[in-house]
Formats: sequence, C-alpha cells, structure tokens
Amino acid sequence: MKKIKINASTSYEVIIGRELLKDSGKLIKEVIEPCRAVIIGDDNTLPLYGGLLEESLKKEGFDTLTFSFPHGEKSKTTSTLVELLEFMAINNITRKDMIAALGGGVTGDISGLAAATYLRGISYVQLPTTILAAVDSSVGGKTAVNLKAGKNLMGAFYQPRLVICDCDTFKTLPEEVYTEGLAEAIKYGVIVDNELFNKFKEDALEGDLNNIEPIIERCVYLKGQVVSEDEFDKGQRQLLNFGHTIGHAIEKCSSFKIPHGFAVAMGMAAVTRASENSGICEKGSSRLLEEVLQKYKLPINLPYSSTELSEAALSDKKRLGDNITLVVPERIGRCILHKISVDHLTNFIELGREPR
Ligand code: GLY
Repeated sequence: MKKIKINASTSYEVIIGRELLKDSGKLIKEVIEPCRAVIIGDDNTLPLYGGLLEESLKKEGFDTLTFSFPHGEKSKTTSTLVELLEFMAINNITRKDMIAALGGGVTGDISGLAAATYLRGISYVQLPTTILAAVDSSVGGKTAVNLKAGKNLMGAFYQPRLVICDCDTFKTLPEEVYTEGLAEAIKYGVIVDNELFNKFKEDALEGDLNNIEPIIERCVYLKGQVVSEDEFDKGQRQLLNFGHTIGHAIEKCSSFKIPHGFAVAMGMAAVTRASENSGICEKGSSRLLEEVLQKYKLPINLPYSSTELSEAALSDKKRLGDNITLVVPERIGRCILHKISVDHLTNFIELGREPR
C-alpha cells in the first residue's frame, strides 16, 4: 500500500494498493467520524463492489444508503445531479454526513459536485474503480456535470477528504474501459515525464495488470505536484488538459459515443502533429507518441472535419475572448501553453490531421 499526500487548500491522502475496499471503512474512519454515508455508483460498479464497501463501512459504525444511476457519460447531467441532491435531502443527510463515490470519472465528478453543493458542502471520499479515475479525475478536486453546450461546464473545485484506489477493481474492467484509462496515464509522460513515457514505450505493463500500481502511483504523484502549485487552474494545471480541447470536441461531435480516453488519445496525437508541423515541437515526437498510443490500442486519427471540431471546441470553457489556449508539446516530456486566435483553430487542427 502506498500513500501519496496531496497538498491543496485542504490536504488529503491518496491510498493506492490491493484489497483496499474491504478495509475502506477503517481507512475512512481515520479521517471522518462514523456518520451516514451515501454510497454513489452506477449500475455496473455497484453490483460488483457496492456490497464490499457497504459491509466495510458498517463494520466501522457508519450507516449507509445507496444511490445508483445508469452508467455512462449520458448520465453526467444536471438531472442526475438534482436527483441525487433530492435523494440526500429526502433522506435527511446532514452536514455531518458524507458521500462515498465508488466508480469511474462520471461517478466521481457528479458525486464531488453533489458534495460541494449539498448544504453548501459535505465531506466526500473518492474510491476510483477505473484507471482513468485513478490517475486523473479522482484527484485534484475538479467536480462537474455536462451542459448541452459542452463537457464539464457546470462544476466546482472541491477537494475530497480521502482517495482510496483499490487496483484489484481494475480486474473487472471491460477491455475498452481499461485501455481508455491508459491514454490519461500516457498523457503525464508527454506533459512532464519522459521516463514515464519511455516505460510505456518499453511496455511497462507487459500485458499484465500486476504492473499497473507503480504507473498509477507515478501519475498521482505528478498530478499532486501540479495541483499543489495551481489548484484553481490558473496556469500550470492547464497542462493536464493536453489532448482535451480536441478530445472534448470529438466527444461532443460523437454525442458522447466515443469514450473520453479514446477522444483524448486522438486529441493528443493531433495536437502533437500540429505542433510539430508548426515548428514548435521537436521532429519525430508525433511519430513516437503515435507508436505508443497504437501499442496500447488507442486511436490516433481524427474522426471529424477540422471545422466541425473547431466549432465544437469553441464552446469549451477554456476559451478566453478571441483566443484559445492549447496545450502543445515542445518534445516528449515537456508541454507548454500556447495561445492562438480562435480564427486560427481550424487551420491548426488541420495541420494535425494526418498521421505521417
Ligand atoms: N483533469 C484535469 C485536471 O484535473 O486538471
């Protein structure tokens, strides 16, 4: 078991290991007094792990109730959020009570926003069960739901009290969900950690889940560093959005049929090609990235026209006036923030369209 401290406006630990769910009640009790715990999860995760969490919490004196919603990005809406808030209100959840978010990014993001807004804020714990949630969304306190105009347009910064990442839960992930999570892990390699990138290049996982823990630990450590420097996304944290401007546009154009991690992989590949073709990025970097993404069965081609993507991207919340800030690599292991005029976005995406 490894503990990584996140020093944001409130500090908390991310605990990474195996067989942690059965001891989650004990771990939670170290930071939150026994109370009523609202377990939130979707119809995939709760039948698999809800019982284990419930039992563990009850053993430590917590009372539990469960809120379930249909899995998938389509549920990440204001209606699910309001349903959840009403559920907590009807059940007389108080400020002394807590939320336990058991699942992937959608569950963690909705639960976090419910925790931030219910009674102006109650405690919550993240228990990520996907690689994507483990390396990214469960850490750092970004919470959100989608609006019709785009992804994560309604949200809050609100840190969890604890993150418990039981890597055994990845064993039941469908291949596609496992794979899409790797895109977010590879992202850290390109942004800040050439050594991590090389691990992926040299087959860090060797096709075996047993090797995933050190990767998760490294990504969480890197995310913790970024978040402690810039919790509220004013500067360096934006680097974590590498591949996301185009990625979110792809998700939106596909009506969320293309999973987040796949869209981010396409976005990372395209923006790296565009950066290389614009003379910002070291030659050969996009080829390296494409090889690594393809090795882990991640897509590298853009499925929509540059105009469609740029129109979708311009409703993104990261747009400031007439400019948009993109995250572009200078080389593998180093990315920078690159501001371009919105009028140039279509051309920039076009520069990254074709793999070499
Ligand atoms: N997922 C990007 C961030 O947490 O900033």
